[in-house]
Amino acid sequence: MAQNWTPNSWRNKPIQQVPAYPDQAALAATEAQLAKFPPLVFAGEARRLKAHLAKVAEGDAFLLQGGDCAESFAEHGADNIRDFFRSFLQMAVVLTYGAQLPVVKVGRIAGQFAKPRSSNFEKQGDIELPSYRGDIINGIDFTPESRIPAPERQLDAYRQSAATLNLLRAFAMGGYANLENVHKWMLGFVKDSPQAERYKKLADRISETMDFMRAIGITADNQPSLRETDFFTSHEALLLGYEEAFTRVDSTSGDWYATSGHMLWIGDRTRQLDHAHVEYFRGIKNPIGLKCGPSLQPDNLIELIDALNPANEAGRLTLICRFGHDKVAEHLPKLIRAVEREGRKVVWSCDPMHGNTITLNNYKTRPFERILSEVESFFQIHRAEGTHPGGIHIEMTGKDVTECTGGARAVTGADLQDRYHTHCDPRLNADQALELAFLLAERMKTGRDEKRMVVNG
Ligand code: PEP
Ligand code: CO
Repeated sequence: MAQNWTPNSWRNKPIQQVPAYPDQAALAATEAQLAKFPPLVFAGEARRLKAHLAKVAEGDAFLLQGGDCAESFAEHGADNIRDFFRSFLQMAVVLTYGAQLPVVKVGRIAGQFAKPRSSNFEKQGDIELPSYRGDIINGIDFTPESRIPAPERQLDAYRQSAATLNLLRAFAMGGYANLENVHKWMLGFVKDSPQAERYKKLADRISETMDFMRAIGITADNQPSLRETDFFTSHEALLLGYEEAFTRVDSTSGDWYATSGHMLWIGDRTRQLDHAHVEYFRGIKNPIGLKCGPSLQPDNLIELIDALNPANEAGRLTLICRFGHDKVAEHLPKLIRAVEREGRKVVWSCDPMHGNTITLNNYKTRPFERILSEVESFFQIHRAEGTHPGGIHIEMTGKDVTECTGGARAVTGADLQDRYHTHCDPRLNADQALELAFLLAERMKTGRDEKRMVVNG
């Protein structure tokens, strides 16, 4: 167990990005209430995800992590969850088929509510108000009342997370994810896009394979892996009072686990070595992520790895790299070299969203070609360094939004105003997400073929 650590030892450290709750007594009462609520996930599941991620670290699986930038109370509903899930399943099936590797599926969902902000204030015209920090903290409406951090929002976030997770578990285990449904996962509006034809061809090939397997006696009835899938949840553990309330001892191992989600990550703005977030994370046994942006120096990364994964356990730590399409070549190789030199076991994942945000027509957006370009560079750099490009971390939705520009069915700057619904950063729509999956599948196939040539060579 981590030395001198308790679920609340983070409270003695400096902290970034904390909301100023005016009513501290109400906050403490809410946290005490949350501490009695049932956990959302259990430790055995987190260990299972860690084992899957250990395979990713070894190059034998690929991590697909994605979902909203920020979940919202207003958008909560069965249709949104279902559309997200099928868009995600489509991506996963394209990647599995392309890479011929198992895909580890981790949603940014069922708890992704708290947002770090680059400024404490937002100005509209002459009025300046505290920034919106995610529905678990305050409201998005630009009014003074709405922007006051309100503890009871944490109860709503918990209930929404529980309901979302319940539906996701039902989809994953109850038949929706059955590979025999591979054609049905196509979303209505994607049907007439250029991705539709590609997806249909792939789904046809999978169906043919399933027909063949059925003929030799392997069916979804007797082979659970054809009808069920492992789906895990993740979020940025920013609001540490909430996380502390869900930090519980696992009765099987006696270890502390965060039970608000399977995997938690530390944001790029809160990864200071001697600060509260790193302190909290070092004591929980879940698989964790660390966002790595351009300001992270190689020595600093090694110190963070020492603190967060002292036993060098494969699957414990995923480095989520988010440099920007024009900065990845400058920053990623030196981090990879430091990690390799020190013999550290990590999962390398690419977040091509957060380093590629621009403002266009007063909207925050991300050009699809820059997202693709960062992903391409990420793969090329890993190939050159001889390391495994282990995964991808994206902001996406199953809806037909117009938030990121570009893609085969090009969203233009003028289109942004049509369906711009995000509560925080711009997300890929289902069409763009599928296009990205096809590109990734091609890159992974090339990597696989090259590896085979070396082995057979
Ligand atoms: C995010 O993932 O939404 C986020 C805020 O990322 P980062 O910490 O990398 O800026
Ligand atoms: Co974001």
